[in-house]
This record gives sequence, structure tokens and C-alpha cells, in this order.
Amino acid sequence: MLELIRRRPEYVDGYRAYCREAYENRAVYFVPADPARIDDGWFLRTKDWYDRLEAGLVPGQPVSLHFWAVDGGRFIGEFQLRPELTEEILTGIGSVGYAVRVSEQGKGRGTALLRLGLQLARERGIARVLLNISDSNAVSAHVCEKLGGRLMDTIRAENPAEGVYWMRRYWIDL
Ligand SMILES: CC(C)(COP(=O)(O)OP(=O)(O)OC[C@H]1O[C@@H](n2cnc3c(N)ncnc32)[C@H](O)[C@@H]1OP(=O)(O)O)[C@@H](O)C(=O)NCCC(=O)NCCS
Repeated sequence: MLELIRRRPEYVDGYRAYCREAYENRAVYFVPADPARIDDGWFLRTKDWYDRLEAGLVPGQPVSLHFWAVDGGRFIGEFQLRPELTEEILTGIGSVGYAVRVSEQGKGRGTALLRLGLQLARERGIARVLLNISDSNAVSAHVCEKLGGRLMDTIRAENPAEGVYWMRRYWIDL
């Protein structure tokens, strides 16, 4: 059964495998950590930074909650939730980020993962989330619309992976 869990040391190998699959397939829409950086000490080395990020204590970074999606012992993907609708979030990364490892895509995992993530946001008292999706990411747009996403507009955006591109902004009411 798919579940969203907090980051845990026992899933680091699975997380590294997920990142490796993304890099081998030239991830653009959601670029995870560089798998080359994920060595045996990585979890403990980065824990404090992730804890501070979650508490809003990293200068210049919005509050961001990170979850891993697992099914039994298998690492499936990740979900990120940014509760504050800052200008940076509205025009950039949006309040939700999600991804499924390449070898698990196309099997309903993304839909199930996002549905769990929306439930989690609802439980935290969040009334609506913003998904900013590249205009060329038809799969994510489809999943988002299937789960109630309402297209607000399409704006120009820019990031290192895609350069300048058109980005759709979807609201999902929770
Ligand atoms: C987006 C992502 C999470 C979807 O995960 P997934 O496990 O493949 O999703 P699902 O299998 O649940 O659903 C895929 C849906 O897209 C549909 N689809 C597939 N190709 C499509 C296309 N070219 N155009 C439109 N819809 C398409 C499928 O038919 C399916 O819809 P259905 O269930 O109604 O039939 C996954 O592709 C991913 O991780 N991509 C890279 C990271 C990313 O883009 N994250 C989102 C950033 S906004």
C-alpha cells in the first residue's frame, strides 16, 4: 500500500535509486538531489538543513515539508508541501511538488501519491494548494486536472532545467 512517510534513514538507498533513475532520464520537471552526493553520511549530514527548512529557518527559502512515498520496502517517489503562498511560490515552484520514480510511472502511482499529498495538506488545515506545471508536462497536468485542478492562467517562468518556458498555474481546493 502506498504511503507518505517522513524522511527516514532506512529508505536512503531507495531514495538514491529514485534520484539515479531521474538523472539517467534527464529529469527536467522535478529535479531531485544529485545521486552522486547521497553517500552513507548524507542523511545525517543534511538532516539539520531539512529540519530548519521545515521550520522556516533557512534564509531565503520558503517553509517546505518533505515526504517520501513508499510501498512496503520500495521507494516510489516524493511529495513536497509549501504551506505559505509567497510571491516566490506563486510565480515559481508552487505549493506542491511531486514525482514518481521512472520505473514506477504510468501505473497510477502519481495519481495515488498526489491524492495522499492533498489529504495530508487538508489534515494540516490548508484550504487550497497551487500546482505550477510546465505547459509541456501533459501527464502532470492531466493528473492535476483529474484531482480537481482548476487552471488559473499560464505565465512565463524560468528555471535552470527548462530555461524560459510557459507554466500553467492550477488551484486545487481542499
Ligand atoms: C507526473 C508524474 C508524477 C505522474 O506519475 P504517473 O505515476 O506516471 O501517473 P499516473 O500513472 O497516476 O497517471 C498518469 C496519467 O497521465 C495520462 N497520460 C499519459 N500520457 C499522457 C499524455 N501524453 N498526455 C496526457 N495524459 C497522459 C495517463 O493516461 C494517466 O491518466 P489516467 O489514469 O486518467 O489514464 C510522473 O510522470 C513524474 O514523476 N514525472 C516527473 C516529475 C514531474 O513531472 N512532477 C510533477 C511536476 S509539476
